[in-house]
Amino acid sequence: MTHRLEVNGAPFDVRASGLEPLSRVLREQLGLTGTKVACGRGECGACTVLVGGRPRLSCTVPAVLVREPVRTVEDLADETAQLRAEFADRGAFQCGFCTPGQVVTAWAVLRDEADRPADGRRERVAHAMSGVLCRCTGYQAITAAICHVAETPDEPTGSP
Ligand code: FES
Ligand code: FES
Repeated sequence: MTHRLEVNGAPFDVRASGLEPLSRVLREQLGLTGTKVACGRGECGACTVLVGGRPRLSCTVPAVLVREPVRTVEDLADETAQLRAEFADRGAFQCGFCTPGQVVTAWAVLRDEADRPADGRRERVAHAMSGVLCRCTGYQAITAAICHVAETPDEPTGSP
């Protein structure tokens, strides 16, 4: 069946049947391969996208049930430029397979942190990011990068 999706600000009529996951539609019909699929069963967070502004595991969401706007990592490129630079400077990725899911999730974390006190931030960030599994980095650099951006949101990228 055909289903209308709004993805990255544009409407698309996609073919989706039954439980076909949003992740597959994004990657195979819309060519948005920035969204990665690792476990394919809701356990790793690699496939995270924004649905209605909240992070969702796109491998577990049937595309035909999506009614709210979808944003993928490609659409967040400008808004995550500082964050991605921090990831690079701090070695917050190695193989990079989890990184799109980390970046999308971190975008939402940073939005939420804008209204929160600095006290307890590191713990909140670490908890929020714990659903996106990384087998390479150990999370210290990921958490540090996000906290740095939360604390210096206007600082030019590449700063210490
Ligand atoms: S690929 Fe979706 S949670 Fe792992
Ligand atoms: S950088 Fe390799 S899994 Fe996270």
